[in-house]
Amino acid sequence: MSSQRPQVRPHLAQLPGYAPVVPLVERARQAGLQPEDCLKLDANENPYGMHPRVRDALTRALADPHFGSIYPNPNQTELRAALSRYTRLDPSMIVAGSGADELLDLALRALLPAGGSIITSPPSFGMYPFLADINELNLIDVPRGDGFGLPGDALLQAVEESTDEVIVVLTSPNNPTGDLVPRDLLCEVLGRGATVVLDEAYIEFAGVDSSAQDLLSEFPRLVIMRTFSKWAGIAGLRLGYALAHPDLVADLIKIKQPYNVNQAAEVAGIAALEHLAEISGQIDTIRDTRDLLYAVLRDIEVLRPLPSTSNFILVEIDPAIGTGRELHDRLAAVGVFTRTYSNPLLAGHLRISTPRADQLDTLIERLNSVI
Ligand SMILES: Cc1ncc(COP(=O)(O)O)c(C=O)c1O
Repeated sequence: MSSQRPQVRPHLAQLPGYAPVVPLVERARQAGLQPEDCLKLDANENPYGMHPRVRDALTRALADPHFGSIYPNPNQTELRAALSRYTRLDPSMIVAGSGADELLDLALRALLPAGGSIITSPPSFGMYPFLADINELNLIDVPRGDGFGLPGDALLQAVEESTDEVIVVLTSPNNPTGDLVPRDLLCEVLGRGATVVLDEAYIEFAGVDSSAQDLLSEFPRLVIMRTFSKWAGIAGLRLGYALAHPDLVADLIKIKQPYNVNQAAEVAGIAALEHLAEISGQIDTIRDTRDLLYAVLRDIEVLRPLPSTSNFILVEIDPAIGTGRELHDRLAAVGVFTRTYSNPLLAGHLRISTPRADQLDTLIERLNSVI
């Protein structure tokens, strides 16, 4: 026995941790500005916020004396039924979670033993290396090449060389490069018997027709992750879901935290799906604004934006005006909060989320003032 504090397992204690976005109020305070005078373009949230119909549904739910005081439904029956109508997949193929992040963690933990591996193609979502770290998984990086296209041959080779204890994690559209996973490549990877976790967090911006969900019936080793954080404007309520083979979904439901989706998230998610047509109008506007932003950025000599199918744009910066971090800091000082990266592949880049249409001029003005 020891009188010292208990020690975190050594592999966890030495981890760098995930670099989350800094809260808006803190960033605004650092810039000496009010939050409402800043443009929060660092986390790809819906810039229009929660839809008023979703807010109404939450207000109505608050009037129910049981709301929030009793546990939510561990089987997520109503929510999965609503998701079933949305995805046109049977509820037995759907499980919801506290954000896609929770389900990514759950699926990797459920499917891989410590010492297993995930194959990823950076630059991509920073959560994957973090999850590999905390779950004692090896990270097999197959980096993207020039222009950040997916390296198809190298990915297939990595799959060929892998054992059963490997999962390929792909992102479509990819964060931060904004491109879709080519369907042929996905089919080839799946055709070689690999387990693929396909993260479709931004698929609504590319159009749900671009989803690979129709491949679920053909490839039982495909698992798709989705979220309400990006299109539905409820990132703070934490709601995501996975689409997978019914037997895998049954296992995930058995081992997930029983009450992983809170009641507010459930009410808001169902309301967002009920008011899909109105929220789709916002998604269309975000796409139009993204295209306008892309065109403006392309005309700025020192910036090279990457085409995007998502709600953000990755921008390469001419070294003559500084690094990604330097431009990020200069923008932050004028109240424009963007995403910068410690990954050396992205040292000369910056990711900008699409603002509201009425914020576009302000963004361009402030951008021009610092370059
Ligand atoms: C590719 C990708 N997947 C998943 C997530 C996280 O989604 P959630 O908020 O549902 O956990 C993000 C958020 O940035 C993301 O970029």
